[in-house]
Amino acid sequence: MRPEIYKMNERIITNIPEEYRVDEPVPSQEPERQAFFVSLCRNYIEQNLREGRQLKYAIVTFGCQMNVYDSERLKGVLEKIGYIEASEETADLVIFNTCTVRENANQRLYGHLGQLKPRKKANPHFMIGLCGCMMQEPSVVAKINTSYPFVDFLFGTFNLHRLPELLFARLQENKRMIEVLPEPKEHVEIKGARRKYPFKSGVNIMYGCNNFCTYCIVPYVRGRERSRTPEDILQDIRELVEDGVTEIMLLGQNVNSYGTNFMEESEIIDKDPEYGFPELLEDVCRIPGLVRVRFMTSHPKDLSDRLIEVIAWNPKVCRHIHLPVQSGSSKLLKAMNRHYTKEAYLALVDKIRKALPDVSLTTDIMTGFPGETEEDIDDTIEVVRKAGFDQAFTFIYSPRTGTPAAAMEQLPEELVKTRFQRLLDVVNEVAHQRCGRFEGMVKEVLVEEKNAQLDSYLTGRTEENILVHFPGDESLIGKYIPVLLKESKGFYYIGEAGQTAGDTV
Ligand code: 5AD
Ligand code: SF4
Repeated sequence: MRPEIYKMNERIITNIPEEYRVDEPVPSQEPERQAFFVSLCRNYIEQNLREGRQLKYAIVTFGCQMNVYDSERLKGVLEKIGYIEASEETADLVIFNTCTVRENANQRLYGHLGQLKPRKKANPHFMIGLCGCMMQEPSVVAKINTSYPFVDFLFGTFNLHRLPELLFARLQENKRMIEVLPEPKEHVEIKGARRKYPFKSGVNIMYGCNNFCTYCIVPYVRGRERSRTPEDILQDIRELVEDGVTEIMLLGQNVNSYGTNFMEESEIIDKDPEYGFPELLEDVCRIPGLVRVRFMTSHPKDLSDRLIEVIAWNPKVCRHIHLPVQSGSSKLLKAMNRHYTKEAYLALVDKIRKALPDVSLTTDIMTGFPGETEEDIDDTIEVVRKAGFDQAFTFIYSPRTGTPAAAMEQLPEELVKTRFQRLLDVVNEVAHQRCGRFEGMVKEVLVEEKNAQLDSYLTGRTEENILVHFPGDESLIGKYIPVLLKESKGFYYIGEAGQTAGDTV
């Protein structure tokens, strides 16, 4: 079933040539093994430096927050090796961290690859690496293998930590390296991410997903759900805070089922078999120096009263919940294997809004799922209006090979596009209304960066995850400051800094 390529993965790299030979043997344990290969790869960078070339890298990231955070970790590894970051156009090494949730993400990768091919001829040092969810699909690996021979190395979602070894092997043997594991063998956390923002970071609390929504490929490419121990997570966060981080995003495909399957032994869990996501969240909030805690993503079927209570009592937890609804039709929700109805979702929203009146609620919605009718879209539109989403990410359903829904009868494309537009109009209308609710108020904003479009403006976010652009000095970046939300622009605000937090104008 699996193509030949997987056999190549078993390779053990032993033929280290003369100039790289070291006295010690290659460590068999991780993370020592990868640290060893980092130092071997450094030789290559240093050799180039001696010849007057500083080698540069770029990582192009597709997809979700998980991939964004994985890319930050890979960047940390490449910088340890000695690469410096550059644009995709000028880099000597370009790595694509891919997404396969929808077909268009796959097509974008092939588009990029086609454009990069000529660069190989122009620059003998030029290398292309691929990783991420798409690489867990055997058909994709087979296609890359036959149609894109200029790709230098490729790895999957279960062996991210092996980048230095694969890179070294590629340099050594001068042939492409492919290593994709069909399931996780060992888990090695990569420390030392190169964060885009020094003051905020993602932290994985779990990997994989067990929900098998019938449209979704994630459980196949990210494997079964595996929670990290509270000890490891809390230690990671303490280290990040020491390194200047004040905002944390706890990451998992379904954070509300945290603690169901642990991948290591944990003292806390042994003592308290009831330890789940709410308890973890409370422990995270106790870490001194941490100002804001976010989390993503919540599955509506598992969001407990206890979690709502913990959020309500804990000012460090941001008033923002991303709660993908997917559809407002109970019939479709059943076909999607979501385990809730339209009424149950709306009741949950009600409960959340009662406990957290200011909360910003965002969601994911899909149109075009097999069997969908106009009435199903009406149901979804009703949910959008009743729930009052601050933002909804809307997608056209894309059949993914191997998922149950891909085998169902598909709807005509044109019809789906019309429905999509009908839904989008309502989503935008509701979001505009919702965003306006803070106009004239002063909110605390974490200043993130200089505004790319407006000269001398800064951009920050409120705890509700609303973007605010306001005039200000760069020295404010990374700080929490009160900002008057002067004018709502639908999805963001134009603000004015220098107001006292809590003042209402
Ligand atoms: N087609 C379209 N959208 C999808 N999503 C997941 N799988 C598919 C698919 N096959 C959407 C869901 C999910 C978000 C991350 O991507 O809405 O919540
Ligand atoms: Fe996919 Fe459903 Fe898991 Fe989310 S919960 S990753 S949509 S299978």
